[in-house]
Amino acid sequence: MAKQKTLYTCTECGGQAPKWQGQCPACGAWNTLVETIAEPASANRFQSLAKSAPVQRLADIEAADVPRFSTGVSEFDRVLGGGLVAGGVVLIGGDPGIGKSTLLLQSLGEIASERRALYVSGEESAAQIALRAQRLSLLDPQSKAGELKLLAEIQLERIQATIEAERPDVAVIDSIQTIYSDALTSAPGSVAQVRECAAQLTRVAKQSGTAIIMVGHVTKEGNLAGPRVLEHIVDTVLYFEGDTHSSFRLVRAFKNRFGAVNELGVFAMTERGLRGVSNPSALFLSQHEQTVPGSCVLVTQEGSRPLLVEIQALVDTAHVPNPRRLAVGLEQNRLALLLAVLHKHAGIACFDQDVFLNAVGGVKITEPAADLAVLLAIQSSLRNKPLPKGLFVFGEVGLAGEIRPSPRGQDRLKEAAKLGFTIAVIPKANAPKQPVEGLRVIAVERIEQAIDQVRDLD
Ligand code: TYD
Ligand code: MG
Repeated sequence: MAKQKTLYTCTECGGQAPKWQGQCPACGAWNTLVETIAEPASANRFQSLAKSAPVQRLADIEAADVPRFSTGVSEFDRVLGGGLVAGGVVLIGGDPGIGKSTLLLQSLGEIASERRALYVSGEESAAQIALRAQRLSLLDPQSKAGELKLLAEIQLERIQATIEAERPDVAVIDSIQTIYSDALTSAPGSVAQVRECAAQLTRVAKQSGTAIIMVGHVTKEGNLAGPRVLEHIVDTVLYFEGDTHSSFRLVRAFKNRFGAVNELGVFAMTERGLRGVSNPSALFLSQHEQTVPGSCVLVTQEGSRPLLVEIQALVDTAHVPNPRRLAVGLEQNRLALLLAVLHKHAGIACFDQDVFLNAVGGVKITEPAADLAVLLAIQSSLRNKPLPKGLFVFGEVGLAGEIRPSPRGQDRLKEAAKLGFTIAVIPKANAPKQPVEGLRVIAVERIEQAIDQVRDLD
């Protein structure tokens, strides 16, 4: 038998090289090339993912709103931008045990009472799923979730045939890493398999109008395992986040062709599955009786909702030559940058101090509006002086020490005022034109000014 030709494929970008090398020639990442079998081009490989259509003038095309249907779980609908779209493909990633299968089973149980739904599991047997359904009380006599169709299968071709025969409105594939195609010889979960299976399933979705939800595993670094190309072919990418030690779970939209990104769904994991939390704004505040040093409340904006998150900093004398900088839930590199700004513009030096930073509740904050809260928390911990009670902040800090405005400042102010916060330190450009009742607004332009103003409050 002729030796099969192999190629080296990058796990980060999907780029290919004929020989192994330490660095991917396409994206420059190190140690990401893995051996894959060079597949002969099969007949239907290069079919386009969308249906082909003649060239049209933009003005002649009727802009129809995409019809959506509810997933039966309101917080899930919210992250999806209003529900599932026929023929849309959703990829949902997250740590093991965070609740992906639970959420999807709950949602399909709801959908099954009105529409045709199919749950394909490559990880659990049908009996295990039934057991979980019982726990989620989907099998109660008054519930119609019993109509949900289950398939325990890992072979792509059989899954495709089932979808074509059953013509469900929604199909869940749990998970894409367990599925393999007969057309490829590599093992399930390998780059080539994941890419091929996802592409084929996307094609099936577009052709049959079935909405497909694929579950994807994440790597140690928290990225979806498998090639990056997976995120490009699907319409929507969602991530499950949260601390497995706390009961709260967040589902965040990372990419959405049918809606806004950065929309957040908030759930609580209970004895009987996931429950939506419709008013999550005060969830990420730790309950201190007294204010403590190193803690600062930030109002962050997640999609259409403002959230109040407590940022905690611990600054302590370093006993090693290179002091530690550690950020949990915030960006580590941004921390180094902010410490430099703090030194240069406010004269507060931390070069001999370890700095630890944490966003309470396992929430991940990526927006730069957290900068001011980070710096105020750090200086508060360094001075060992708590910030005044009822204080909250937001605002981006630039390298020149200026405080830049954050989007939707008025919504943030209103939300914090509603929760009983009384003092706001915010960017000058976000200052409200009319006074907000019960709120003292301190508008600042520079970091040193913000720190002075806060010190004057104690
Ligand atoms: P699961 O949905 O299996 O996670 P994933 O598919 O993302 O790996 O999550 C299961 C976890 O949730 C498990 O640790 C048990 C817990 N759980 C509950 O607390 N309550 C429930 O009702 C269910 C079904 C699971
Ligand atoms: Mg699972």
